[in-house]
Amino acid sequence: LKEKGDKITEEIMSLISLLPSHADSQGKKLSKYQGSWYYFNILQGVLNFQRNFQPQDTDIILASFPKSGTTWLKALTVALFERSKNRSSDDHHPLLSDNPHGLVPFLEIDMYIESSTPDLTKFLSSSSSSRVFSTHMPLHTMKQALKDSPCKIVYVCRNVKDTLVSLWCFACAHQKIELDRSLLESMFDSFCSGTVYYGPFWEHVLSYWRASLEDPKHVLFLRYEEMKAEPRGQVKRLAEFLGCPFTKEEEESGFVDEILDLCSLRNLSGLEVNKTGKINTVDHKIFFRKGEVGDSKNHLTPEMENKIDMIIQEKLQGRVVLV
Ligand code: A3P
Repeated sequence: LKEKGDKITEEIMSLISLLPSHADSQGKKLSKYQGSWYYFNILQGVLNFQRNFQPQDTDIILASFPKSGTTWLKALTVALFERSKNRSSDDHHPLLSDNPHGLVPFLEIDMYIESSTPDLTKFLSSSSSSRVFSTHMPLHTMKQALKDSPCKIVYVCRNVKDTLVSLWCFACAHQKIELDRSLLESMFDSFCSGTVYYGPFWEHVLSYWRASLEDPKHVLFLRYEEMKAEPRGQVKRLAEFLGCPFTKEEEESGFVDEILDLCSLRNLSGLEVNKTGKINTVDHKIFFRKGEVGDSKNHLTPEMENKIDMIIQEKLQGRVVLV
């Protein structure tokens, strides 16, 4: 598959030659940069971002480890900002004509991967002057480029076992193969050792967790499991944090539920744009699977569960409780 950003500059290649490297479960090379593992083309996007991004005070960045609920968070954020279009099943709602990943691009994967000066203006939300971006970078890698900007960051965190299984299913769906048990086993080993794309998982989570405690006005820490368990409460938290809380009238008229319905996995995955569209080389439809808490039980052995639970317990030391 031809990938975005597959022309790596000589400068990046010489940097890569100095960095620790490792092959992932499918033999694809990763480099360790500022404590996290990246594919070469993504590393180029990270560096372009670090050198060139000019933050604005009103920017919003949606952050996550891959397969933690990014698509859902993007959809909810778009829906909150596009409130006026939400009512009466407006045909022009952006979520009806584009996938959440097309509406909220990744800084290092979509925007800076092929250009050091991408056009960022088109990602303004129509109802506020905020630009809305996303990232899988850990917070420490973004810090310098954000230059003490008061922009807002929302992080969604998910249980490591469900994240791993989701990533495995996604990898198989992307390659259009049946679920491959040996691939799960090698991805499991990579998760446990931390040598996984954007990993180690625990460093990623901790970078945002600490910031959310230190600076709760600017960093919101959401959990996928809590969003599933009490979506109304969590979407209200998100709206308040983003500075667009629901009014009493909106709440009384069932508006919160309308947003949740619009952004539900069932609704989004049934839309034509998500059944047939593509972003880069990825079919939109594979961003939507089961969306269940605890599905990892159906795929990981009890030994695998114990091992990863112990690693996470040791690394997080109870600082972030992952259900
Ligand atoms: P599963 O593979 O466990 O089903 P990401 O968006 O970060 O790539 O994460 C993908 C996971 O989020 C997948 O989990 C997917 O099914 C789930 N997901 C996608 N859209 C969702 C939505 N609207 N609501 C809840 N979960 C969603």
